[in-house]
Amino acid sequence: MAGGEPCPAALLAARAAALPGALGAATRRATLRGWQAVTMEHESTLPADAPGGLEGAHGLRGRRVLVVGASSGIGRAVAVAAAGAGARVVLSARRTDLLAEAADAAGAAGAAGAAGAAGATGTGAVAIPCDVSDEGACEALVAAAARAAGGIDAVVYAAGASPLVRLADATETVWIGVLRSNLLGAASVLRSALGHLREAVDPAVVLLSSHSVGDPWPGLGVYAASKAALDELARGLRAEEPWLRAVRVAVGPTLTGFADAWDSESASRAIEEWAAAGHLRHEVQQPEYVAAVVCDVLGDPARRSDLVVIGGSAKEAPPAG
Ligand SMILES: NC(=O)c1ccc[n+]([C@@H]2O[C@H](COP(=O)([O-])OP(=O)(O)OC[C@H]3O[C@@H](n4cnc5c(N)ncnc54)[C@H](OP(=O)(O)O)[C@@H]3O)[C@@H](O)[C@H]2O)c1
Repeated sequence: MAGGEPCPAALLAARAAALPGALGAATRRATLRGWQAVTMEHESTLPADAPGGLEGAHGLRGRRVLVVGASSGIGRAVAVAAAGAGARVVLSARRTDLLAEAADAAGAAGAAGAAGAAGATGTGAVAIPCDVSDEGACEALVAAAARAAGGIDAVVYAAGASPLVRLADATETVWIGVLRSNLLGAASVLRSALGHLREAVDPAVVLLSSHSVGDPWPGLGVYAASKAALDELARGLRAEEPWLRAVRVAVGPTLTGFADAWDSESASRAIEEWAAAGHLRHEVQQPEYVAAVVCDVLGDPARRSDLVVIGGSAKEAPPAG
């Protein structure tokens, strides 16, 4: 991308905002105050009396949260918001410089949150680098996170790769790369974390899914397939480990590093194709908004839905009424 050119995510946001019927800033402010207005919760499949549940919301104070994919975008925003709400946060990703900066931001948010809460002390945040495409590294990450935080109550899996590539051009190498970061990394992290989560009170797992599941956008077919498989991983966890709140949060376009690797010419072509196909019908979100929803889900054991859809276009949305 040439210097000074808008990044693909900004191009996408501008295109979506220019479409007839686009939601305006006033709507965004309103929905930030009450996120249920733009999200839909799928019917719960978790039994109400599942062990581990608590009566009423307890928030995130003192909870030990591992955020994977925390160096940028949604994962970073989740780590900062969770720390600000009093959680002990372990952040992980590959880019060590960004990860350290994100951990500093989370630590500062934790200290600021503690300063405003009577009797609370700063919780700090720890950065542990990991490439989730390495199974052994995922196992080591979980062990180190549990040591650093004194256990694990919740895992947020936000790591993801999203190359813009048409299926006609998607080689096995492309497929393997996407499946490793979007699916197999999640499987390895969660498998390793189950023993720790089993010891927790109200253990929870949030997996970042996508509107593209069931409705793949041209150029994102490999990505959508990986997210569909991730969804099944979450459903499988619900079936095999009913004590665990495994929640998919399905996200639409959000202003993050998601599209940073796309070249602007292909991105511009794809964005026009998506606009023509009606894919850009929802407002592009800020990562902080998605993070607020994720933290709400994590901190409230009464939220037993297995799917939360932000922006509301996933095919499996519950029937109205
Ligand atoms: N933004 C959107 O429009 C959108 C829409 C739907 C769903 N989502 C999902 O939301 C999640 C967060 O993405 P984002 O939008 O926040 O994009 P982002 O800013 O690119 O964040 C992706 C994160 O994943 C990490 N990651 C990628 N590959 C990794 C690997 N092999 N090992 C460890 N960490 C890895 C990245 O860190 P390093 O590069 O430092 O490793 C980064 O922290 C993803 O699962 C994405 O699919 C995003």
